[in-house]
Amino acid sequence: MSAETNKRPTNNNGYIWIVAAFVLLVFGGFVISEATPLLFPTQGSAESRQVDDLFKFMLVIGGAIFLLVQGLLVYSVIRFRAKPGDTSDGPPIHGNATLELVWTAIPSVIVLVLVIYSYNVWISNTAAKDNEQVVQGIGRRFAWSFTYEVPETAIPDDVSVSDLSPTVQTQLEAKNSFTITSNELHTYVGRPVKVLLNTEDNQHAFWIPAMRIKQDLLAGRTTEARFTPIEAGNYPIVCAELCGDGHGAMRAEIVVHPDEETYLAWFNDTANTVFYPPEDPVERGRQILASGAYPCSGCHTLSDLGWQGVTGPNLNGVGDRADSVRAAATGETPEEYLHRSIYFPSEYLVPGFGALMPQFQPDDPGAPNYMPIEDHIAIVAYLCTQTSTGESVCDLDNLNQIAGQ
Ligand code: CUA
Repeated sequence: MSAETNKRPTNNNGYIWIVAAFVLLVFGGFVISEATPLLFPTQGSAESRQVDDLFKFMLVIGGAIFLLVQGLLVYSVIRFRAKPGDTSDGPPIHGNATLELVWTAIPSVIVLVLVIYSYNVWISNTAAKDNEQVVQGIGRRFAWSFTYEVPETAIPDDVSVSDLSPTVQTQLEAKNSFTITSNELHTYVGRPVKVLLNTEDNQHAFWIPAMRIKQDLLAGRTTEARFTPIEAGNYPIVCAELCGDGHGAMRAEIVVHPDEETYLAWFNDTANTVFYPPEDPVERGRQILASGAYPCSGCHTLSDLGWQGVTGPNLNGVGDRADSVRAAATGETPEEYLHRSIYFPSEYLVPGFGALMPQFQPDDPGAPNYMPIEDHIAIVAYLCTQTSTGESVCDLDNLNQIAGQ
């Protein structure tokens, strides 16, 4: 036995030290648990308070254990270091039943308490609430879109159903309602939200840090995320599942309006774009792309719409290129080239880019990459105007003919 071993506390004085160390460790854990959440984003939802309280509770325990382990490590390095010239072995210590019982029992109790606490938080946060606002959230490589139901009764008297787009008419026939789309998730303070999540390709994860919710999107299954906003403002929505090379750009925004009135003002404005679509196909195409109805923003850059994707070719000035280098490379007119680039994207690949773009198709409204012909024509008409002069490089009559309208 070395001199060190004999000096270990074995009397009442030792227990006082243990109690003092325990109090100090818990205090340290408490400081860590109070300081860390200062780095967190706004508590944007009712649920975020419960989640943060649970997290703080875990930090008190984790912080105390961290300080205990690091403290013992530093203490041992100093206290039990070998004297210069001492090359002897340390004392041979074998099992200690009391110690092993203690370090098994304490973590078991901690884990049990955490299981019960977090289960209660989870049950409370995922429970159905009264009067939920239901939004469909769609994740696609590499953009988010959100759709809202508009009942047939909301159609103004001066709008005739037969004047609405064929897509809207088909929806009305099927379910007496139609959907409007936004690339932002709009909600308002105090109204519980239920987001029904679907992916049209691989797995994504819907994460709103300010709301403290994160939910995976699984192919072939609808998953749900629930929260009740309590703080007006705009907060980021992030994809938290590596879903391809545009994953980092797969972001959107949630807009929490201060009250129902301002929310409805946005909702009615958006519905009006369906009720009173612009006559000009170029305007219409811009509106469709800006709405996020198609996931183009995740892959393409287009300054006019604030897109910053880099996985696909840059669309700034795409009209000029369709008219010059692409026309030369494909032998197609600009309108034909842009038309085929959307319905047959792999036919001609812009140098430096792979065949990653989904093939949009005009026939089956149930298909994941359905793009009805009237949307398609408007989008091509708009892209034709992405030129240095802002003038269209396309012949729209020819476009209608090519697209079979
Ligand atoms: Cu979608 Cu990462």
